[in-house]
Amino acid sequence: MKTVNIGIIGAGRIGQLHAENLARSKRANVKAISDIRVDLIEQWARALGIETVTTDSRKLLEDPEIEAIFICSSTDSHITYIEAAAKAGKHIFCEKPVSFDLKQTKRALEIVEEHGVKLQTGFNRRFDHNFMKIRHLLNEGRLGDPHIIKITSRDPNPPGYDYVRVSGGLLFDMAIHDFDMARFLSGSEVAEVYVQGAVLVDPAIGELGDIDTAVTTLKFENGAIGVIDNSRKAVYGYDQRVEVFGSGGNVSVSNDSDNSAEWSTAEGVFREKPKYFFLERYQEAYIRETEAFIDAILENKDVPVSGRDAYMAELIAAAAKQSLTEKRPVSIQEAAKGLLG
Ligand SMILES: NC(=O)c1ccc[n+]([C@@H]2O[C@H](COP(=O)([O-])OP(=O)(O)OC[C@H]3O[C@@H](n4cnc5c(N)ncnc54)[C@H](O)[C@@H]3O)[C@@H](O)[C@H]2O)c1
Repeated sequence: MKTVNIGIIGAGRIGQLHAENLARSKRANVKAISDIRVDLIEQWARALGIETVTTDSRKLLEDPEIEAIFICSSTDSHITYIEAAAKAGKHIFCEKPVSFDLKQTKRALEIVEEHGVKLQTGFNRRFDHNFMKIRHLLNEGRLGDPHIIKITSRDPNPPGYDYVRVSGGLLFDMAIHDFDMARFLSGSEVAEVYVQGAVLVDPAIGELGDIDTAVTTLKFENGAIGVIDNSRKAVYGYDQRVEVFGSGGNVSVSNDSDNSAEWSTAEGVFREKPKYFFLERYQEAYIRETEAFIDAILENKDVPVSGRDAYMAELIAAAAKQSLTEKRPVSIQEAAKGLLG
């Protein structure tokens, strides 16, 4: 069986998760990993059997045996690594978002195109068993045309301030998944967004220029409308629910829990809390997305989540940011014109 040699840049929460999933795959070999804080990962990486552990990402890019690079470092470093990996002729899996500067994302995608390498973006939710079922029902026409899409996406706890600083803010870092989900489920591009945002969880997030709570309404090109609600802190766990109402019916998916037991006592009726956070809830989805990327390399086919998908979600985030600042609905066309000319 052919295996793909992989190098990973950035070994924080998501880099380590991908490394561990890839280490279990029969078709992948994590040959090298780099991070600016190699002291923090050396022991973990060696235990996983990774040959090269380095602060120097060039060692990965110059290794002729490495076919693909996973970019899992902080968002503000993605563009540099995408360009370097493409120029080195490596296929790329890049965590979301590619960047929070649309011009830079556009340029990076052009470089990827010029060098003929594949680029998959880390929109893992497309591989979630619940959301795949909704897409399947829509594909089969069982729900008719989508009219209303409701996405609830709330984290159990905000990230650390160092993360917030380089993340691009709630709209580019967190809601970006929901903007992608909105496109995925509606089967349409977004035409216009309107955002109400607030700082209700932690004033320090506001002092960093970010928000921690948001409601975004969307109009789609196919006429459907949608609403996304985000919070950085839901005290009961990771709240990830979706409802799609269409001309032929309605579908909703609720949160996954560790078990489905429901118990009743004199105090009330109870069930398990939702799974704690993304690492738990999307465990299977992360495996499916990396396997799909390996398939695309081994079978030389298109990746299932493209650079264009990254670009379109970032464009929605940019329009959302403008809407938040200017306190008015902003069309995607207007945002694109303002940013790209
Ligand atoms: N798809 C998802 O569900 C998901 C979930 C979490 C994070 N992410 C994305 O993954 C990326 C990393 O997030 P995280 O939660 O793992 O963050 P993290 O802070 O836990 O880890 C980032 C790692 O990158 C390293 N790093 C920072 N700058 C670097 C550079 N220039 N070169 C090499 N290494 C560098 C840091 O030392 C750290 O180990 C972000 O872009 C984030 O948006 C995606």
